[in-house]
Amino acid sequence: MLQDKNIVLGVCGGIAAYKACELTSRLRKLGARVHVIMTKSATEFVTPLTFQSLSLNQVVTDQFSAPRYWEIEHISLAKLADAFVIAPATANMIGKLANGIADDMLSTTVMAAKTPVIIAPAMNTNMLDNPVVQRNIDALKALGYIFVEPEEGLLACGDVGKGKLADPAAILERILHVLNPKKDLAGKTVLVTAGPTQEALDPVRFITNHSTGKMGYAVAAIAARRGARVVLVSGPTCLKTPEGVERHNVRSALEMFEKVTALLPESDIIIKSAAVADYAPAEVSGQKIKKSDDELNIALKRNPDILYELGKMKGSRILVGFAMETENLVENALVKVKKKNLDFIVANDLNVEGAGFGTDTNVVKLIDGDGGIESISIKSKLEIADIILDRIADKMKRTCV
Ligand code: CTP
Repeated sequence: MLQDKNIVLGVCGGIAAYKACELTSRLRKLGARVHVIMTKSATEFVTPLTFQSLSLNQVVTDQFSAPRYWEIEHISLAKLADAFVIAPATANMIGKLANGIADDMLSTTVMAAKTPVIIAPAMNTNMLDNPVVQRNIDALKALGYIFVEPEEGLLACGDVGKGKLADPAAILERILHVLNPKKDLAGKTVLVTAGPTQEALDPVRFITNHSTGKMGYAVAAIAARRGARVVLVSGPTCLKTPEGVERHNVRSALEMFEKVTALLPESDIIIKSAAVADYAPAEVSGQKIKKSDDELNIALKRNPDILYELGKMKGSRILVGFAMETENLVENALVKVKKKNLDFIVANDLNVEGAGFGTDTNVVKLIDGDGGIESISIKSKLEIADIILDRIADKMKRTCV
């Protein structure tokens, strides 16, 4: 997805510098060439050798070292970059960039750049709230610098609040958003379901599954990046809503069914990656069920099969399902693709390394109703989402949806 893109990654001094290592590695896995510039204080937290080993490129730390290229080094990196990413960005670096101070390799290079600059700040909450820092951030935003907002949580200094570096996945997502110009889903509405459902037993307990929603959220993020209006119907997850996506929260399978059928008329493409509970407790106790010395049997009733119902109503829409299996992957998935009237199903085997719940990767087979199978080896969920949407876009071209 980032094949042959040159990303210049600026790393400033802060405990979050270690997360830039993960970002480097993830960028490389997506095919990017990563060139790391570290500020002097960043080298106090992580060694240049770490970034050199991860990026397979020489790390720049000193403005006055001999240039590697015939041009002056900061100018050559500025010209080379398809995008700049500063993660973590300190208040100091943000202040320098906002006020035209270029006194180290990173600030001079960024100032010489004409390509997009993505800034992921990380600092103490009070520093972040400081009106001077906020003014600098606003000034940079007004100039077109792109910010990945820091998260809330327990900070390294012991304070709790906003200031933690955004998750590397969120930074990566923004980089892809900036660099991926494909807009082939513009004008289409994509309905995505994601996450688990929760089926209440009483006011404190429910039946659910291990789904985290990562695959569905990846599909929603990429569809939005490719220009679609994206409506995400999500079971309970801890994930952030991807940029530009409309999210509707639901809890139970019945709630998901109602929301999805209400949104169906306005949708062109439906991708059902949610792990919907097939059964719910037949009765929901109004009060907490108290324990006794006897065994407890819980009667379960069938939930609607949302995808099956959608298959009956789909018309000319494109309908894609998911199947997670632990045995007979292809046979089971083929039954589902036919029974549920799907264009294709994305099937994965829980027992395969790199596939399954909560991982950032997946290994899948795309199976259509005619038995056509495309096997996709281990890739990030974002990449798999892109491939799924490629196949949908191809199909749309052929059928003029
Ligand atoms: N699905 C659905 N409603 C359900 C169950 C499943 O919409 N009540 C959808 C899922 O979102 C997924 C597909 O159907 O896209 C396949 O889900 P899966 O759980 O793999 O299969 P099931 O049809 O539930 O069959 P089984 O649990 O027996 O494997």
